[in-house]
Amino acid sequence: MYKIPANTLFVGQRLVFVPECQSTNTLLAEMTTKSALPEGTVVITNHQKAGRGQRGNVWLADAGLNLTLSILLNPNFLPVRHQFQLTAVTSLAVCGYLRKKGLRETFIKWPNDILVDRKKICGILIENSLQGETIHQSIVGIGLNLNQKIFVPSSATSLFSETGKTVDLNSELHLLLPEIESAYLQLRAGNIKWIQSTYLNLLYGKDQWLPFESEGKKFSGKIKDVDEAGRLILSTENGERSFSMKEITFLR
Ligand code: BTN
Repeated sequence: MYKIPANTLFVGQRLVFVPECQSTNTLLAEMTTKSALPEGTVVITNHQKAGRGQRGNVWLADAGLNLTLSILLNPNFLPVRHQFQLTAVTSLAVCGYLRKKGLRETFIKWPNDILVDRKKICGILIENSLQGETIHQSIVGIGLNLNQKIFVPSSATSLFSETGKTVDLNSELHLLLPEIESAYLQLRAGNIKWIQSTYLNLLYGKDQWLPFESEGKKFSGKIKDVDEAGRLILSTENGERSFSMKEITFLR
């Protein structure tokens, strides 16, 4: 069903399609324990029966209608303290792909939800294995809603919901993977400044007052920046404050 892309150097050059599985992230992690896989190996499925999301959530996607895949990367050049940069390049690559599809109102909701018109179209789950101070292996899981028409909750959307057009999943995979590879190569080349500024330009809510909650307290904050460690920097009525992912929730 899926073909090896002709337009990448290594991402997707080993492509494993399984009609169904529990979770492509889990399956790819298991495969790496059994044999040495080349960097860029992609595991993709039609039907994920126990898709995993961030913060222990589940990821639901109707069978055969969306892209549900995991990519193996070996960013052993990346210090652990910079692991957020992998989140950043994956997010901006997906955003770039969607903008090229004509969805101009596509933004990254920190740290890595991809929104179109404020609705979630793509979720990313990155699972890193560390070796000392560096990242030995990274499994980049992407759930991208393409042809699905009905969503519960309604805060989700798909390419079809936004454009009214059904797409060919293999063709879309061949547009997405080069975006991911080229953003990852920027990271490998050490172009952190480019990554930071591109990520920031695509950041949902930048310079806008938004409601947040942290440690049980609700407050308003204006997103000013995301630092190299991936902390969200807000300007609040109590001055500038920074938060890790576990420390803050968006209320809208
Ligand atoms: C999120 O909570 O937004 C992240 C969702 C990530 C879903 C993808 S689908 C492919 C890969 N396999 C999983 O089990 N999860 C990720």
